[in-house]
Amino acid sequence: MSLYSQFPQKRMRRMRRDEFSRRLMQETHLRADDLIYPVFVLDGKNRSENVKSMPGIVRQSLDLLMAQAENCLRLGIPALAIFPVIDTEFKNLTASEAYNPDGLVPRVVQQLKQNFPELGVITDVALDPYTSHGQDGLIDQHGYVMNDETVNVLCQQALVHAQAGADVVAPSDMMDGRIAAIRNGLDSQQFIHTRILAYSAKYASSFYGPFRDAVGSAANLGAGNKYTYQMDPANSDEALWEVGLDLNEGADMVMIKPGMPYLDIVRRVKDQFGAPTFVYQVSGEYAMLKAAAINGWLDEEACVLESLLSFKRAGADGILTYYAIEAANWLKKRQ
Ligand code: PBG
Repeated sequence: MSLYSQFPQKRMRRMRRDEFSRRLMQETHLRADDLIYPVFVLDGKNRSENVKSMPGIVRQSLDLLMAQAENCLRLGIPALAIFPVIDTEFKNLTASEAYNPDGLVPRVVQQLKQNFPELGVITDVALDPYTSHGQDGLIDQHGYVMNDETVNVLCQQALVHAQAGADVVAPSDMMDGRIAAIRNGLDSQQFIHTRILAYSAKYASSFYGPFRDAVGSAANLGAGNKYTYQMDPANSDEALWEVGLDLNEGADMVMIKPGMPYLDIVRRVKDQFGAPTFVYQVSGEYAMLKAAAINGWLDEEACVLESLLSFKRAGADGILTYYAIEAANWLKKRQ
């Protein structure tokens, strides 16, 4: 005899019982279409260096990058995001290499668009790979990152990327007013189709550590930090304010960064604005998952796909992830 006087009024487990009904009630889905693959690119030929704090991720020269681009296309990943590793000799206080039309990024963009016209190419607009101090902008004599002077350079950088054929420019610098300035700059040169993906809610996060190793800005930055322009991890309303400004200034898409510790922000942004919303599963998140996987502490495939699905559930339309290729392979296998 049951101890219950009544049966449960509603049995939630009924729908969970079989695979067919679990599939029918699944609310969100993860597809290769949702993924963007960030890549680190080096100058030269046939060069590939492992990123120590990101096992499985390399910095590589353009010739080797082509194979990765082809992989993306084959797997249905819509776009690549390019992050350059700039040789120290090209770094200076004015970040002049950032808008060199013959620089590494424009050359990579041209080659990619020439070989794989259907693959979306996203470029990072920020000065940290190009400054001798590793900050995202130009600094004054006190080391403070100057806003308007930096925006000027960012406009030139974005224009050079657009001229090379970039489909999307993605300002990750967090200067004020840069979206409007870049939009104006692009439009005035007839680049009306170049999209802007604004890193609108970019937090001053410690999860970027491995990325700074990968692009070699960590050494330059030293004990420096980015607190005077990136957001305080304690804040949430401020993220909405930032996103609102960027959309008003002409952003086509907005980004929240990092990812997993900021799912609440993704949800609020999507609910409030309904705009194309992206999230960046950053280098430190990748490193954590990878380290646990390598040690046999986590089931990598299951945990990575769960983490990516959680972004979709939180409202993201797309995800930048160093796991893009692996994830797309896993998803393909499941089809
Ligand atoms: C810099 C930039 C950073 C990342 C992307 N663009 C690092 C930073 O702000 O210091 C981080 C990406 C990652 O950690 O994967 N403009």
